[in-house]
Amino acid sequence: MTAKILLAQPLVDKIKNELRLRCEGLKSQGTTPSMCVVLVGENPASLTYIKNKKKICEEVGAHFQLLHLPAETSEQDFLEHLSRLNSDSKIHGIIIQLPVTDKLKKLDIPNLVAPSKDIDGFHTANTKAIYYGTTDLNLLLPCTPKGVIHLLQFYGIDVKGKHIVVLGRSLIVGKPLAMLLSNLDATVTLAHSKTKNLEEITRTADILISAIGIPHFIKTSALNSAKHTVVIDVGINSLNGKVTGDVDPDVIEVASAISPVPGGVGPMTVISLIQNLMCAAENQLKGKK
Ligand SMILES: NC(=O)c1ccc[n+]([C@@H]2O[C@H](COP(=O)([O-])OP(=O)(O)OC[C@H]3O[C@@H](n4cnc5c(N)ncnc54)[C@H](OP(=O)(O)O)[C@@H]3O)[C@@H](O)[C@H]2O)c1
Repeated sequence: MTAKILLAQPLVDKIKNELRLRCEGLKSQGTTPSMCVVLVGENPASLTYIKNKKKICEEVGAHFQLLHLPAETSEQDFLEHLSRLNSDSKIHGIIIQLPVTDKLKKLDIPNLVAPSKDIDGFHTANTKAIYYGTTDLNLLLPCTPKGVIHLLQFYGIDVKGKHIVVLGRSLIVGKPLAMLLSNLDATVTLAHSKTKNLEEITRTADILISAIGIPHFIKTSALNSAKHTVVIDVGINSLNGKVTGDVDPDVIEVASAISPVPGGVGPMTVISLIQNLMCAAENQLKGKK
C-alpha cells in the first residue's frame, strides 16, 4: 500500500478564492482588512514565516504591515507599541512573532493582543471556547489545529468515534488540537515526551498526528498496517539543510494517507491565519454598525 498524499494546495486555493470575495465585500463597505506582525530582533526562521504570511495576506487583497523592533526593545516600549496597535481601528489583526527576545520572555505574551484582534488565537479569552466544547472553526482559534481539522474534513476523513493519537502537548498545537478533536467526538490520546511505551499506543491509532519537532521520529514500527492509519505530520524541522517533518519517509508504505512536509500542515496554518484575519475584520465592522 502507498499512502494517499494529503496535499494542502487544492484546499488552500479554494479558501483563498473565498477569502478574496470576503475581502472585496469588506472593502466595498470601506474596510480594508489589515494585519500587523510585531517582530523583535533578528531571527531568520521568523523572517521566512513572516514572508509567507505577507504573501498570502496580499494575495487575497488584505493589507500587511510589519513592525520590526530592535532586539534591545524594553518591556515598557514593547507594551506601548502593542497598546497603540490594539487601539488603532485600521488594524484588525495583530501577531506577536514567536519566539520573543529574552528581555520580553516574562511578559504574558498570549494575552497582550486585544482578543478581537488576536488572529493567532492564543488569547485565553479565545482559547476558552475550546475548553467549553466549541466545534465552530469560524472563531479565532489557534491556526495549526484549525488547519489540521480543515485538512481532514477536506479529504473526507471523519474523526467521530476514531482513536486519534496526538504527539506533543504544546499550547499552540497539541493541547488545543486534542481538545478540538475531542469536541468533534474523537477519542483522543495526548502523548508527550514522558509517555511510556509510545509505539504500543500509536499502533492503536486510526489517526496519528505528530507535533513534536524531531525529524523522522515516527518510523513504520509506530503504525499497524492493518489499521490503515491516517498520518498528519505537523513537524517542521531542518535535516541536512532540508525542511522535513516528524515522520520518516518510509511511513508512506504503511499509512493509508499522509500529509506531506512541506506542502501539508504548514500552508494550512498560514491560510487559517488569514481566515482569522477576515473573521476579525468582519466582526470589528459589525461592532461599529
Ligand atoms: N506546520 C506548522 O504550521 C507548524 C506550526 C507550529 C509548529 N510546527 C512544528 O511542530 C513541531 C512542534 O511544535 P511545538 O511548538 O508544538 O513544539 P514544542 O512546544 O517544542 O512541543 C513539543 C512537544 O513534543 C513533545 N515531545 C518531545 N519529544 C518527544 C518524544 N520523544 N516523544 C513524544 N513527545 C515528545 C514534548 O513533550 P513534553 O511536553 O513532555 O516536553 C512537547 O509536548 C515543531 O517541529 C514545529 O516546528 C509546525
